Parts: sequence; C-alpha cells; structure tokens
Amino acid sequence: MRERPMSEHGGNSVEIAQQLGIAPEALLDFSANINPLGLSARVKSLITTHLELIERYPDVEYRHLHQALASANHCDVEQVIAGNGATELIYGLVRALSPRSAMLLVPGFAEYRRALAQQGCRVIEYRLEESQGFQPDQQLLEAVRQQRPDCLFIATPNNPTGLMPDAQLLNELAELCETSQIALIVDEAFIDFLPQGSSLAARLVHSNYLYLLRSLTKFFAIPGLRLGYLLSGNRATIRHLKANREPWSINGLAALVGQHLLTDDDYINLSHQYIARQREYLWHALKQFTSLVVWQPTANYLFFKCTHQHINLKSALLAQRILIRHCENYPGLDSHFYRVAVRREDENRQLIQALSQILTPDS
Ligand SMILES: Cc1ncc(COP(=O)(O)O)c(C=O)c1O
Repeated sequence: MRERPMSEHGGNSVEIAQQLGIAPEALLDFSANINPLGLSARVKSLITTHLELIERYPDVEYRHLHQALASANHCDVEQVIAGNGATELIYGLVRALSPRSAMLLVPGFAEYRRALAQQGCRVIEYRLEESQGFQPDQQLLEAVRQQRPDCLFIATPNNPTGLMPDAQLLNELAELCETSQIALIVDEAFIDFLPQGSSLAARLVHSNYLYLLRSLTKFFAIPGLRLGYLLSGNRATIRHLKANREPWSINGLAALVGQHLLTDDDYINLSHQYIARQREYLWHALKQFTSLVVWQPTANYLFFKCTHQHINLKSALLAQRILIRHCENYPGLDSHFYRVAVRREDENRQLIQALSQILTPDS
C-alpha cells in the first residue's frame, strides 16, 4: 500500500507549526481552501442547541440527511449517499467499482490515486500540459477512446489549478463514457463556489455511469465536522454503497447540519459575493508581480507559477508566518508552482504585502 507522504495536502498547519516551534494559530494558513466566512450562524446555532445528539447513535440509514440532499439536488433519495467528507466516498466508490484500470488527470487531487492503489488498479495518467493552459481538450476524449479505462476521475474545477473545463467538453465526455460503459467520476468538491453550479447534474437521471462527488467541507467551512455526498443515476451502485458501508461513519451533528446547509441561501449568496470580490483582488494583485504567472481562478483558490529560479515562496512566506501550498509534490508539477486560498480582506492584503517584500514590485 502507498504510504501517505508528509505534507501531501494543504491545511497541515499543525505539522508546519511544530517544525517552526510555534503554535498553529500563529500561522496564517492560505494552504487549505476553506470558505473564509467560516461557520454560518445557522450551523453554529444548530450545533450549540443540539449537543445532546452526541449522546445517541445517529440513524444508521441517515434518512433525513439523504432526503434533504436529494430534495436540494432534485433527485430521488435512491440516487444519493452521504459520506464522512467526499474522501470516504472516493474510497467507497473505488471499492465498489473495483476497476482494473483508471484514468487520472495530472496534476490532480492525490486521494484518487491512493484509493485506486489500494485496489491494485492500474493508473493511466493523462497529462494536462502547461502549454495548453492545464486544460483538457478533445485529446482527452481521444485518449479515453483509445485506452478504454474502466473509470475516469476528473475534478471540476480542478485542484490545484482551479480551472473549470469547458462545459461542452464535459458533456461530450459524459456521453462518451456512457456509451463506452466507463464510470465517470466527476469531483465537484468545489462546485458550490461557482454560482452557476454543475453543468452535468441534469444528465444524472439518464445516466448509469456518471457519478458526481460533492464536498460540503469547503464551501460550508466544516472540514473538522466532515460531510460530503455522491450523486448518481446508477441506483444499484448507490444501493450497494449504502448496504456495504461501515455503520455510523457520519457523526450525528454533521448529519443534522447537512440537512440544513443547502438551503442556507443567505450564507450561500453572501459567500459568493464576498469570495468573488476577494478573489478578484488577489488575482489582480498577484498579476502585478512580473515573475508570477497566475491562472484565472474560478473557485476559492488561485494557482500560480513563480518564474524566479532561486526563490522558494513557501519558505520565504513562512518566515513571515504565512503558510501557502507548495505544489511541488503534485505529479505533473514542479517547485515553481503554488496555490493560495482566498481568505478575508485584511489577510489577503497581508499576503500581498508579504509577497512584495520577497518579490520586488516588478519582479
Ligand atoms: C478536489 C478534492 N476532492 C475531494 C476532497 C475531499 O474533501 P472532503 O473534505 O469532503 O473529504 C478535496 C479536499 O481537499 C479536494 O480538494
């Protein structure tokens, strides 16, 4: 089995703080992509007024939670399963599908590969090239036709690039996978940050091979509570996942909160407005540095390359107690690539200020 390397993900502020000999709270963490508005008032109030739920087992079938997720997504309850974060569902789905070969887009989120390795699955890498702006195009469809993997993972928007593939291409991909009987797992962990939402959701009813993976931890700022869900037109797989999961993997408070998140319109709208403004600020401010190449962001994080040969921005910013995600350990990237989350206004300004001390204004 593949061992988990240290610092594989962002958000490892405890580990970094330990290395620096400081408290994790002393770090300004731009490495985890969490909604900067934090918990909504509704979530706080639900948790504080229902603490007694901890004294009971949650409903092992999560009936109310599944019903709420189904109605928010205009689908049947047989088409949805909730999980302890999207991560639990990645592993569960890979176990259920038991693919012999899987295509992964590179660079991409690390856990698909790890889940596939646990099943002894052969991984076929499809490289997203910097020269193509790290975006998939018709060549991806060609590769799928030629390689005929049992399943394909694609994240929309992608992590770490933050790029959203063309909607037409995604629909063609879904069509191709459906007719070729290839399980298409579309990771929409960050889709809630895009006000227009998913262009593939409408296909679910007619589809047997399409899986939409959602995370609630990022947009609703509950990575420590953990919650995600999976949508599919393939009711047999959803039934299989429900029947074979380990019991009570979602805690009672997460199950309660999950019934109310997707209807929290005030928080959802406020988040869209706030993040759009701050993302715009960071995008323009980062582009001012001539040594940075910045890709246009769509969600709550920005991906960029530092063309300076000798500057390690992560180390330089850590000296100012700012933590960013170095993307050097992503297959397909190297030490020049970084990712930063959109945080609150004063924090974003602090990041730009710190960067201008490292990179002279026009370098
Ligand atoms: C693309 C992507 N998918 C899934 C996940 C897992 O999210 P969760 O916290 O819901 O397990 C992450 C977390 O970083 C992610 O970046």
